Amino acid sequence: MSSVAVTGIGELVSCDGSDPDLLGIRSKAALIVEDGLVAWIGPAADGPSADSEIDVDGRVIIPGFVDSHSHLVFAGDRGSEFVARMTGQPYDGGGIGVTVAATRTAADEELTRLLATRIAELRALGTTTVEIKSGYGLTVADEVRALRIARRFTPETTFLGAHVIPAEYARDRAGYIDLVTGLMLQSAVPYARWIDVFCEPHSPHAFDAEEAREVLTAGAEAGLGMRVHGNQLGPGPGVQLAVELGAASVDHCTYLNDADVDALAAAAETTVATLLPGVEFCTRSPYPDAARLISAGVAIALATDCNPGTCYSSSMPWVISLAVREMGLSPAQAMFAATAGSAKSLRRTDIGRLVVGNRADLTVLDAPSYLHLAYRPGVPIARAISLRASGETQAE
Ligand code: NIG
Ligand code: FE
Repeated sequence: MSSVAVTGIGELVSCDGSDPDLLGIRSKAALIVEDGLVAWIGPAADGPSADSEIDVDGRVIIPGFVDSHSHLVFAGDRGSEFVARMTGQPYDGGGIGVTVAATRTAADEELTRLLATRIAELRALGTTTVEIKSGYGLTVADEVRALRIARRFTPETTFLGAHVIPAEYARDRAGYIDLVTGLMLQSAVPYARWIDVFCEPHSPHAFDAEEAREVLTAGAEAGLGMRVHGNQLGPGPGVQLAVELGAASVDHCTYLNDADVDALAAAAETTVATLLPGVEFCTRSPYPDAARLISAGVAIALATDCNPGTCYSSSMPWVISLAVREMGLSPAQAMFAATAGSAKSLRRTDIGRLVVGNRADLTVLDAPSYLHLAYRPGVPIARAISLRASGETQAE
């Protein structure tokens, strides 16, 4: 058993749920890690000895960010689509087909190399756990390939065969649903923990409520947990469906009516509303009112949705600064939502909080306080730190 003492912590943000703001902040703290787990937290003066020491010289330690929504297995580029968004052209999901075509023609090695680069990028921004969806293959072989590659980097893999109806099935929606809920699902299950669906009546490419219900129900029967893309482009049935089926998360929640907020509040123990403000930024859409959700009692998470169409950024610090500036969250609420909140959306209790027994997934901030995450937008103050001799972490 090898142990590491992390010392010189100016501010330790545990996100352990204590204190009115849930952050459980300690100053002048130390933390002992044994075999990758938190073994002790307390005042620096009382710290037990360890085999080795990392002195962070007065910096902040927070739980590594949990990015619970990303689409990182893809090839190709859609920069010109981003420019169109900035000049007012609305997003309708049609560009997904461009990425599907580019991803299908990429070799396994190329997709793996692109993903490894993106994982290194998000770790350098402080993320230690990332959920990765398929959804740019949309054939049995290409969806399985995306999940196999993603599995090499994270246990949080999500089968998103129901991202859009691929071009070759444009005249046979029912045939594609049969494939997604049949052979494609069976082939994906060994490599996936979750199933997701783009439930969006405002996109001609995505799925309506009944199609989404079929997809989610089939996935749950096959043993997968449920997640939903819902209420992204306009008011819609995604939130109500997610709550009714007991999905772990419903993501985007850009357009919510009072009944949606009430349903999410009543389901707060089960279903998390995952907010993705980078998408609103990159598609010039209105931001949801996150402060209203919190005061109604909704459980919220923050994630990037990093993908080539609606938000090509893997920066959780940037997401936090947007959540504070544009969605009405306090810095403490945004900090909690990006760690413990997003861990909850993955039904994980071993990450997102620095408490004894949890994974020692640590992120260091080159700052005197976690407030600087929102206060210094765009400045690279956060990075994940590797404590294990092997350098092994979930997101590497
Ligand atoms: O979460 N809305 C559906 N899927 C992604 C976008 C995918 C793309 O445009 O390539 C999202 O925004
Ligand atoms: Fe998404």
